Amino acid sequence: MTHRFSGRTALVTGAGSGIGRGIALAFAREGAHVVVAGRRREPLDETVALIEGEGEGGKALAVTADVSRAEDLRALVTAAVDRFGSLDVAVNNAGVLEGRGQTVGDLAEEDWHRMLDVNVTGIFLALQAEIAQMRTQPNGGAIVNIASRIGVHSRLPRTAAYAAGKAAVSVLTRGAALDHIADGVRVNAVSPGPTATDMSFKDGETEADRAARMRAESPVGRVSTVAEVAAAVLYLASDDAASVVGADLVVDGGATA
Ligand SMILES: NC(=O)c1ccc[n+]([C@@H]2O[C@H](COP(=O)([O-])OP(=O)(O)OC[C@H]3O[C@@H](n4cnc5c(N)ncnc54)[C@H](OP(=O)(O)O)[C@@H]3O)[C@@H](O)[C@H]2O)c1
Repeated sequence: MTHRFSGRTALVTGAGSGIGRGIALAFAREGAHVVVAGRRREPLDETVALIEGEGEGGKALAVTADVSRAEDLRALVTAAVDRFGSLDVAVNNAGVLEGRGQTVGDLAEEDWHRMLDVNVTGIFLALQAEIAQMRTQPNGGAIVNIASRIGVHSRLPRTAAYAAGKAAVSVLTRGAALDHIADGVRVNAVSPGPTATDMSFKDGETEADRAARMRAESPVGRVSTVAEVAAAVLYLASDDAASVVGADLVVDGGATA
């Protein structure tokens, strides 16, 4: 096991479940101190318990924060630095999918606003809080935003609002990367395709239904695992990717190849 993040502090939003939890655990296994954030306390505490229970001396801190609120994000970064001394890596993973399967004409306006508030404004505000800290550090920092293959990468019906937000994440990532590489802050994105979390089920779908859909739709014939998405994130956050700036790494089993 390599330990690319020993002595570094990694912040992961949306780390109480799914992909975010998998990313947090992967950082801990590679030696990072991990700060896990989300709105609900209990799932964050579970992630901390999983990290601390792995027996590799992992240290983690749970902080409740709503990424659509700038003050929460500033407090989150402050809590990370107060506890562990720096913020070396941030993964902006928190995201929501509302109004699943709706056309543009039928989507409730509140679902539109909720998605943009979390998926776009949430990333923008997180970038601001994280960059404000990282640009003061001698070693800068690395940020990975979680976009989606449903965004700039694919053309699918009944996903327009979610796709518009995730496309904004891909574009915002490139712009932030260009703006802040001179500050020593590297910004990249990962765009997952369907991944083995609750979000990838269509309404009423069972695991067997999803598996059958993936066999038909995906070149690799299955959903990606959370570990596969986490591996892409850790690569981009690591020194292995020191010259990778503004990339948007698609992990979708070839669906948009
Ligand atoms: N699963 C997939 O197939 C797939 C594919 C492409 C992209 N993605 C993206 O990957 C990311 C993770 O998705 P997932 O599948 O792991 O879904 P998930 O299990 O629903 O995780 C989303 C996490 O975000 C947190 N969150 C939601 N709104 C928040 C807010 N306002 N402030 C802070 N945290 C918030 C949630 O915790 P709380 O409710 O406690 O806040 C939850 O832990 C999302 O950005 C998603 O769009 C997923």
